[in-house]
Amino acid sequence: MKRIRLEFAPGVETEFVDRDRALAQITEWAERGTWAPVVIFGPEGCGKTAFLRQASVMLRDLGYDVFYLHPLDRVFLAEVDDSDVKLLFVDLVRRTLEDERWGRLAMAVFDLVREILKKRRRKIAVIADDVFQAIGLDKAAAYVKGLLNMIEHPVYSYENIAVLVATSEGVSRREIGRHRWAELRPMWNMPKEGFQQLYEKLPGPKPSFDDVWRWTGGNPYMLRELYVKRWDVEKVVEEVVRTKELTADFARRWGRWLEEAVDDPEALWGRGAPQELLDELIAKNLVVYNMYDRDPYFWVDQPPPERDPELGIGKHVAWQTPIHREAVRRALEN
Ligand SMILES: Nc1ncnc2c1ncn2[C@@H]1O[C@H](COP(=O)(O)OP(=O)(O)OP(=O)(O)O)[C@@H](O)[C@H]1O
Ligand SMILES: [Mg+2]
Repeated sequence: MKRIRLEFAPGVETEFVDRDRALAQITEWAERGTWAPVVIFGPEGCGKTAFLRQASVMLRDLGYDVFYLHPLDRVFLAEVDDSDVKLLFVDLVRRTLEDERWGRLAMAVFDLVREILKKRRRKIAVIADDVFQAIGLDKAAAYVKGLLNMIEHPVYSYENIAVLVATSEGVSRREIGRHRWAELRPMWNMPKEGFQQLYEKLPGPKPSFDDVWRWTGGNPYMLRELYVKRWDVEKVVEEVVRTKELTADFARRWGRWLEEAVDDPEALWGRGAPQELLDELIAKNLVVYNMYDRDPYFWVDQPPPERDPELGIGKHVAWQTPIHREAVRRALEN
């Protein structure tokens, strides 16, 4: 099976590393189709986009017509055999790049799929990465419902259909989770051995793998950040403090809870932590709240351990990475 090439950091190209179980899951979805849209969520930078790009190439190789949408990166692909549909899509993308109405493009997929199936029964994949910001969070659930309708009530019959959606955004998970229109599937940071393979690929002198593992918890984006910031952890933490707006007032307001959560994120579970604090931690993508049972069935790739105090993983609540936790600790100290 072909592994895609990824630009990991400026000047560093790697192939898609590890995630063996996730790749086997793609093969399963390809064989049977997804009976509902699979909505993948997980820590920011854990590798959802890389995985969906790998999935789209695999599904194409397995005989699927593939629509791939990634509005944030302005990447839109229609790898389909039907040249009329391909032209329609390319034209639509061109116009959308001019007026930036990404939602329209996401919606157009419904018509294009119908157009393909009108001519012939086929295998169709729709892969939508971070579309919810583009179409509006308030429309996220309706969009997923549309995708489900495409699977359950197609106007023309299909051979198989696979719908994969990713979001790194805690709020959209909640919005979609309220309905039974999707299979919500978490994906965690990379497992240790796989992450080590990625670490080995980085050139130049570097800190020990154990240090890098303890800092990042296997998050490839944080690995990239460390690499481009010449392994200066302080700078990477500072950046998180700034981008997440972990201000003195934020720290003062929630001090006691945050101090406990930095020691053990599970302090935020079942102990009456204020909803407003939880909402803020979720919206800022600092924690994953209400973690799933670690039965691999519910996960994409391997689930994280039940508990890992060193990495900030609790049974129900986990810091997205140790660097996120460190940023909160820093805010509390300042
Ligand atoms: N399995 C992998 N093999 C090699 N590189 C990877 C792998 N997974 C992720 N990466 C790299 O790690 C970085 C972060 O990954 P990616 O952008 O896919 O994460 P993400 O979960 O989509 O992040 P976000 O939440 O910001 O959307 C990227 O540079 C990507 O190329
Ligand atoms: Mg992404």
